Amino acid sequence: MYGKEIKRVLVTREQIARRVKELGEQISRDYEGEELTLVCTLRGATLFFADLAREIKGDVEIDFIACSSYGSGTTSSGEVKMIKDLSSPIEGKNVIVIEDIIDTGTTLYYLKKLLEARNPKSLKICSFLDKPSRRKVEFEGDYIGFEIENEFVVGYGLDYNQKYRNLPEVCVLAPEVYMSELSKAL
Ligand code: IMP
Ligand code: MG
Repeated sequence: MYGKEIKRVLVTREQIARRVKELGEQISRDYEGEELTLVCTLRGATLFFADLAREIKGDVEIDFIACSSYGSGTTSSGEVKMIKDLSSPIEGKNVIVIEDIIDTGTTLYYLKKLLEARNPKSLKICSFLDKPSRRKVEFEGDYIGFEIENEFVVGYGLDYNQKYRNLPEVCVLAPEVYMSELSKAL
């Protein structure tokens, strides 16, 4: 189905749908009777966010934020920049940040500190994927879709140089793709 840049499918559409439904049920239970603001991090979390939001029952507001720690390619610069801030204040609100993946932990460590300073009533992190073996900064998510090994993945919102976000499943990128980019950079 895919070209040779894709090594294999790691998480199928069915597995994604099942897990997203479970997370939605868990979040609906945890916030029963409470208002909730879902903050989607751009751009990687958009597909996950759209699916998850529809599995959550109750009063939900949505907002968007964009930070970047990756330049291009597969290695983090370690520097986090805010590119787009939230549209509304979060003081006194129950907030869940929806992220695509926790890798080194750098982005969310920064983002959580930044949002905590705005005094939300509560602040939790929900990440579609988690690569705990890659952590450089101590960081744990509150809701995790799938824990994965140290492989670079694309699809279901996740990109390599802005490509592959539209793939409906999570796929492992063939290392040759980024190795050839690396050798060009040297
Ligand atoms: P962290 O700050 O190192 O935790 O990086 C988080 C960001 O790196 C994510 O939001 C992604 O944009 C990107 N990232 C990390 N690992 C992958 C991957 O395997 N595929 C695609 N993007 C990734
Ligand atoms: Mg990215």
